[in-house]
Amino acid sequence: MSSSADSLSEVHHTAFMAAALRAGHFLQGAEPKIFRDQFAGRLLEMSEGEIEAFYAKVPPQLASTCVLRSRFTEDRLAQARQRLHQYVVLGAGLDSYGLRMDDQLGSMIVYEVDDPPFQAWKRRRIETLGLETPHHVRYVPCDFERMSLESALADAGFAADEPCFISWLGVTQYLTRDAIRQTLRWASERPSGSEIVVTIVEPGAKEDGADARRGIVPFTSYISVEEMTDMLSELGFSQVEPLTLGAAREKYFSGRADGLTVPPFQRTVAAIL
Ligand SMILES: C[S@@+](CC[C@H](N)C(=O)[O-])C[C@H]1O[C@@H](n2cnc3c(N)ncnc32)[C@H](O)[C@@H]1O
Repeated sequence: MSSSADSLSEVHHTAFMAAALRAGHFLQGAEPKIFRDQFAGRLLEMSEGEIEAFYAKVPPQLASTCVLRSRFTEDRLAQARQRLHQYVVLGAGLDSYGLRMDDQLGSMIVYEVDDPPFQAWKRRRIETLGLETPHHVRYVPCDFERMSLESALADAGFAADEPCFISWLGVTQYLTRDAIRQTLRWASERPSGSEIVVTIVEPGAKEDGADARRGIVPFTSYISVEEMTDMLSELGFSQVEPLTLGAAREKYFSGRADGLTVPPFQRTVAAIL
């Protein structure tokens, strides 16, 4: 990474790792791809050779984490678009939905929320690449631990009285339970028809030592599917649907030639208000 990225924190660097996994899958994953992110590689300050060398060393159960959660989320979002026109990407990292879907979004507005220093980096990177910031993307700088998501979104023009689709992918493990609850509470106060897709890292990852082996940032919160399901139900979400390992295997991983498998400890839960 260039010197500009050196000033970012370790947790910000996890967004580079997630994008490198999507970029590696785009360049080297077997067909059919689970998820096609043609922008991930460009947003990173890495050459194709560097991405390929990185991806070649990644174990299959880690390689699948980011493409699975993005694919599942965007499948759900495609269904939900008939009933809502706002997409809130919490902890967006180098998510490229706005860039990829630029000419297909109609009246949809995408609110990208991230920690201010990382978001500033991403915006500079988009500028350096000479890419147009899609006109339907609004940037919302917000630290989930220290700032009010509600007022950050309001400043960006978010319509709080209209339903929205929320994704929160690869982030909860880096947050305290207080910040997680506060953000889920905000989500639960959205109008009926709103939907969330959230990932968690299960406690088994700690017991197995899987997070330590990744060697990046220690996780702060481990949450089981049952705990997240209960939290969402208690907050008033009516249809709480964890993506089961069996369903994920059958829908996205059967017959693959590249050995990608369902990640054992990252779980994804969808819920509708
Ligand atoms: C592993 S990346 C995931 C990025 C993206 N959702 C994806 O799936 O590629 C974690 C993201 O969470 C963001 N993040 C971590 N802690 C945060 C906080 N306290 N407030 C706001 N964003 C945070 C990081 O900046 C980073 O973009």
